[in-house]
Amino acid sequence: MKNILVIGSTGQIGSELTMKLRRDLPGGTTVAGYIPGAEPKGVLLSSGPAEEANVCNAKQIADIVDKYDIDTIYNLAALLSATAERLPLKAWDIQMNGLINILEIAREKRCAVFTPSSIGSFGPSTPREDTPQDTIQRPTTMYGVTKVATELLSDYYFHRFGVDTRSVRFPGLISYTTLPGGGTTDYAVEIYYAAVKGEEFICPIAPGTYMDMMYMPDALKAAVDIMRAKPRYLKHRNAFNIASMSLEPEEIAASIRKYIPDFKMRYEVDPIRQHIADSWPDRMDDTCARKEWGWSPSFDLDSMTRDMLEHLRTKLQ
Ligand code: SER
Repeated sequence: MKNILVIGSTGQIGSELTMKLRRDLPGGTTVAGYIPGAEPKGVLLSSGPAEEANVCNAKQIADIVDKYDIDTIYNLAALLSATAERLPLKAWDIQMNGLINILEIAREKRCAVFTPSSIGSFGPSTPREDTPQDTIQRPTTMYGVTKVATELLSDYYFHRFGVDTRSVRFPGLISYTTLPGGGTTDYAVEIYYAAVKGEEFICPIAPGTYMDMMYMPDALKAAVDIMRAKPRYLKHRNAFNIASMSLEPEEIAASIRKYIPDFKMRYEVDPIRQHIADSWPDRMDDTCARKEWGWSPSFDLDSMTRDMLEHLRTKLQ
């Protein structure tokens, strides 16, 4: 992993992953790929090259791979779950037609590829507790359908053509740098913004709804470590369960109240998001990731809350 293209470099994961790759892997080039309307700014723009990289434009991506001698592609372009329910055909186009473009380029030009999967790749018939690595995946959302297909197609390109595809199933990701948008787990980010602004939080997800969540530094570590893992130890590839906390809204609110005692939250449940959340697991079993490439998270709920509040206070002041 030396010269890397991050597609979706200004999104929630991409904005931080691009900077981490530039910091942690000096000597190579990490290209920030973007689409018009979501151009990189500030340090993301000044710290390395940026190129327009639309997953649906295969020639544009192939030209970047040639120009920078790219060996690894992080394919982070996606519509999140609630948006994908509103725009299912657009989600299919980005997530599937985009992916096949990337995999074909990777096959031809011998690149490794990381395309994230998600807790959204599971559905109501999946075991909810300690969801195994290999289990039923019958999601009922367009987001989930594209994520299962992403896993299958990525494994297919590995077995059939030897393309080095690897991935993880991300939980809901919590971060203070770039907001997610249109996801079912977004509430777990927005709750911290409301708390720091001194506002009451209106929670769209019902109390008692457990979902896997993860703090962004752990998610970034996973995205880098999986691509650097020794291939001979990988029995699985697309995609590994990774877990760090299984949370429901009241637990996050209680953790915030340790630092902001008068924080207030009430519920106005969004039926679309709640329906999606109810179809996802409560807690994934990440034993295979731990065994096959040494996955281990660093943050728990309280250490994440402390760090989120501290950074958001600086950001929002
Ligand atoms: N965070 C995503 C969503 O809520 C799940 O991977 O859509």
